[in-house]
Amino acid sequence: MAKLGDLLKARFGVAEDVTEVALNATLEGILGRRSIRKFLDRDVPDDLLRVLFACAQSAPAKSDLQQYSIIHVTDAAKKQTLAKLAATPWIATAPVVLVFCGDGRRARRISELRGKPYGQDTLDSFMNAAVDAGIALQAFIIAAEAAGLGCCAISQVRVQIEAVSELLELPNNVFPLAGLAAGWPDEAREVTLRLPPALVVHRDRYDDANLAAEIDGYDQRRDAAFPIPARGQMHNDLYGQADFYGWSEHVARRLSRSEGRHTLRAFLQARGFALD
Ligand SMILES: Cc1cc2nc3c(=O)[nH]c(=O)nc-3n(C[C@H](O)[C@H](O)[C@H](O)COP(=O)(O)O)c2cc1C
Repeated sequence: MAKLGDLLKARFGVAEDVTEVALNATLEGILGRRSIRKFLDRDVPDDLLRVLFACAQSAPAKSDLQQYSIIHVTDAAKKQTLAKLAATPWIATAPVVLVFCGDGRRARRISELRGKPYGQDTLDSFMNAAVDAGIALQAFIIAAEAAGLGCCAISQVRVQIEAVSELLELPNNVFPLAGLAAGWPDEAREVTLRLPPALVVHRDRYDDANLAAEIDGYDQRRDAAFPIPARGQMHNDLYGQADFYGWSEHVARRLSRSEGRHTLRAFLQARGFALD
């Protein structure tokens, strides 16, 4: 087993003093995780998948409402169409392709079955369904990675959200949150450095007074570990070639342009969410 200190150093690029904490396989798996986008041409056994779905369903859920559904896309033609709609060709041949959906339909149907009005048509309910689906997605990922699989979530399924919803025959009040491709890894990927905990974990009150300095340090550490090659610089036509191209420059360039996806509100309203 790796050492906890080494895992934290790999995750943050700086040493952390945690000598009092015992390492176990769960911590090791989570701290060492990374996304995988290339898979062996080898099936994932159905029994294993059933266990992984059970793990996804073991995630906590707001008010025990469990407002999500998982579409397991097994049909080759559908996978291909999904890959096209998401502009993510490699998912067409991924052994396991899932779409995690927020599901506000089941609650409405249950209210109807029990002869009660549904009185929670709010933006908050939409968010609960999205959060439930996201937590279930992560529970699936942790379990799948513990079993030796590699995974990658795919928000690109929302680029053409209407077409993806039609492809998967999602009814009203069900929306795709993210795809997930999984399989036996056919690539070795490094653990990527995360933001310093000082920027993410706040004590008693929000405080980002040190943001500029912390981001500079993070940029330097990431650049030392995994420099972004010159050909990876984004929007050079707009911003020119940077001498130092750190994570924050990359992120700022990326965020400077729209990602599309302007239709979400209209889509959700058309699909029966009030969003008030
Ligand atoms: C909700 C969500 C959506 C994502 N969507 C995509 C995607 O559409 N395409 C992709 O290649 N990776 C996607 N990713 C993977 C991230 O790019 C990846 O997690 C991030 O770069 C950090 O790398 P790591 O997971 O290896 O630590 C997504 C991750 C999450 C959590």
